[in-house]
Amino acid sequence: MRVKPLAGAVGAVIEDVRLTADMDAARVAEIRAAWLAHGVVFFHEQDLPPAEFLGLAKRFGTPVEYPFVQGIDGFPEIIPVLKLPHERVNFGGVWHTDTAYLDRPPMATMLVAREVPEAGGDTMFASLTAAWAALSPAMQALLKPLRALNSSARADVSKTREDRLKDSAKAGAPTQYEALHRVMRTHPETGRPALYINSGHTARFEGMTEAESAPLLEFLFRHCTSPEFTCRFRWGVGSLALWDNRCCLHYPLNDYHGQKRLMHRVTLAGDVPG
Ligand code: SIN
Repeated sequence: MRVKPLAGAVGAVIEDVRLTADMDAARVAEIRAAWLAHGVVFFHEQDLPPAEFLGLAKRFGTPVEYPFVQGIDGFPEIIPVLKLPHERVNFGGVWHTDTAYLDRPPMATMLVAREVPEAGGDTMFASLTAAWAALSPAMQALLKPLRALNSSARADVSKTREDRLKDSAKAGAPTQYEALHRVMRTHPETGRPALYINSGHTARFEGMTEAESAPLLEFLFRHCTSPEFTCRFRWGVGSLALWDNRCCLHYPLNDYHGQKRLMHRVTLAGDVPG
């Protein structure tokens, strides 16, 4: 297999590998090492019907259910990430890490493309490790002791779920989740610090009001998505992305109105950010 970096700070395309649920352990370990090094790895032209996709995900971690949307038929852990031609808002269409409002946000997300627009619908990623490293020592010292409140109910991100809640809401799901997490989290596998905030979910710093937190948070949201910390991936049917949700933001572009885009997503259990 060949690992080709896609940008300076984050992302690599892995070629010459066929992903299957029964791949040999050495190959899984190689992919995992590339994933830890690059934050997100991409593959093209994979043949992964749902059972095979879930089997593959289990080679990397423990699939967990998404709190708000039902899984596809027979697979509660696989959710559809869908935008229909008449819809205007795309699921998760803000810079975010997945479900940062849970006490244990997922370690990783695996997304496979089933139907893609002719052009558009790319996904961008940003390295929170690079974002942390680029802050001045004084700003790092200021942020290090802080925790921030992450909520599932922020207006921008809630709006991106509305279309799917109309047709696929999970019965009996709580309306809101909240969790306090450290602003600087240390990656449990690489030991590298990351700036763990995101504009989708982070509402305020612990002990401060939203108004007091906003100026610094707004600076940090902009800082995290500096072009130098990002990469952009163009999907084809059968493309797969595996991202490290502990140190990468992502942002699906909404530039394909009138066309359908369907992906299948699995998230893998994570730990309490430390
Ligand atoms: C998401 O999981 O936030 C969706 C990503 C995408 O549609 O590219």
